[in-house]
Amino acid sequence: MNTLNDSGIWKVIASLDDYLPSGQVLIYLAIAVLLSNIVLLVLTKSQRETLYRRVSSWAPAVARGRRISSANTPPRSLTPEKKVPNNAPPPAEYKDCFPPSSREVLLKVAESLSASQRKKIGALEINREAFTKNVIPFEADYRKCGPSTYTPMEISMAEIEALGDFPDYSKLTGVPLPEAYKEFEIEKAQARPYRPFRWPYHQTMSLNKLEPDWWLELESNYVARVAERKELFEKHGKLVLNYLPGSELACKEMMENALQFLCARYPQYFSLTQSKSKGYVFHNAILHNETVIRDMHPLHVLLENVPEDFAVMSRSPEDGMYYFRAGLLCSSLGWNVDTKLGKQLKEIHSPIPDYKAKMEFSMDRYFSRLLPDKPIQRGSWGLEIDKPLFMPPGDPHENFRSLQLSNLPLSRIHLRVDWQTLRRLPLSGAIVFNFKALFTPVEEFRNEAYVPALVLKVLKDGRRPLMEYKNTWHVEHVVVPNLEEWAREQEEEGVTQKDWDVHTLVESPWFPGWEEKWHRQQGF
Ligand SMILES: *[C@@H]1O[C@H](CO)[C@@H](O)[C@H](O)[C@H]1NC(C)=O
Repeated sequence: MNTLNDSGIWKVIASLDDYLPSGQVLIYLAIAVLLSNIVLLVLTKSQRETLYRRVSSWAPAVARGRRISSANTPPRSLTPEKKVPNNAPPPAEYKDCFPPSSREVLLKVAESLSASQRKKIGALEINREAFTKNVIPFEADYRKCGPSTYTPMEISMAEIEALGDFPDYSKLTGVPLPEAYKEFEIEKAQARPYRPFRWPYHQTMSLNKLEPDWWLELESNYVARVAERKELFEKHGKLVLNYLPGSELACKEMMENALQFLCARYPQYFSLTQSKSKGYVFHNAILHNETVIRDMHPLHVLLENVPEDFAVMSRSPEDGMYYFRAGLLCSSLGWNVDTKLGKQLKEIHSPIPDYKAKMEFSMDRYFSRLLPDKPIQRGSWGLEIDKPLFMPPGDPHENFRSLQLSNLPLSRIHLRVDWQTLRRLPLSGAIVFNFKALFTPVEEFRNEAYVPALVLKVLKDGRRPLMEYKNTWHVEHVVVPNLEEWAREQEEEGVTQKDWDVHTLVESPWFPGWEEKWHRQQGF
């Protein structure tokens, strides 16, 4: 049995599958997102306010005794319920299946380029045969390839060069830059209170369109977190940061895209300048220093400035399948860059029961078709003692998971949410999986309407194999009795309805009143 929470890319990718049963993935997604937004707008406004007023009136939590009890363990966001597709094609078919081309987008972007840049862009029309014969080799560095070599997105090296550094990724991807977040203060900042709890498990709402404003959310622990991640790299090296040949363009794109986001979202803290002597320089007013972009590998630029994890999956021209080629992963539990680097999607998933039979087909197809303008976000969660960020196999923290400590204080137990995004890069065509680990004391659930009852349901009635995979048994003797009491309390206070038929909230991945609570805690 895998006794660790496999809390990164492999889990999210595995769980994607449940929601992508047919070829009409994106349409489903769009409809789902639209509906959920409408429901949210129409239904919850007044309901939320009433509820929240009641909740906050008894918000100050009363200290209480501990109880010992045992309970079941809950499922992780993995739901291997899907039927086996009986029309799975042989993998060879993917060899001829290129990702959706960025050609048209490039032509639009070209209109706003300078005359000299435009001159470097080759013939606007490309010949399909010339393209398929000149796709960049898997392990080749794009900077060393001829000008008429193409990425799988039908973009030539000449065009990549003409676009230069920090091209406008909002135009190239179709994902708008975020609004500036003027009221944001790093000293007080908290990420939004994600509570991605779902019941029943097999509904289709956990995969959402990325909200462009909320991709990289900084928290008040920014300085400490960046330092912690740098220490993890000092200590573990290739276990947390490594890259294989051929990932150069994808890493550059991913890093530039992230820095552009930060500058647009938090202009009070971040900016990019360009000079003859240094090229592009990223200025960080939280750390009070600057990063000279060309002096560092892109993953190191991210390590220095962005406390989130990134994994690059690239398409191999030999078989059209996706392989993990570069990663900066400081928040993985039980796996790491070293244990997965170089592997194909299906190899990465081999520990997951039934992956081959139930998921491989849809996952490969999803990767082959994902569009750059349709990034997605979702959350996966677990319960942890303290705040474990990185746990290589054999880490002493693992021991916590094999026993129920008799004197475990509630205050040490945290919800860990891995808030994840998945996107296609527009030039290289690589797929980037990205996530941040967010910790919240479980005690916070007490004044969050419906949350105690919902978590309780999942802990008690989640399906057994998933519950073992999710691995929350080690804290349930403390968490469950408290959740029971809080759920009762909320019912008595009229915050939740009596005998509420537990189901995923319309506010998911939040809860009624979350914005008020969040603003109050942050002070902005
Ligand atoms: C920025 O400052 C932090 C904290 O002092 C330090 O660890 C880091 O190396 C600096 N980064 C650069 C690029 O100088």
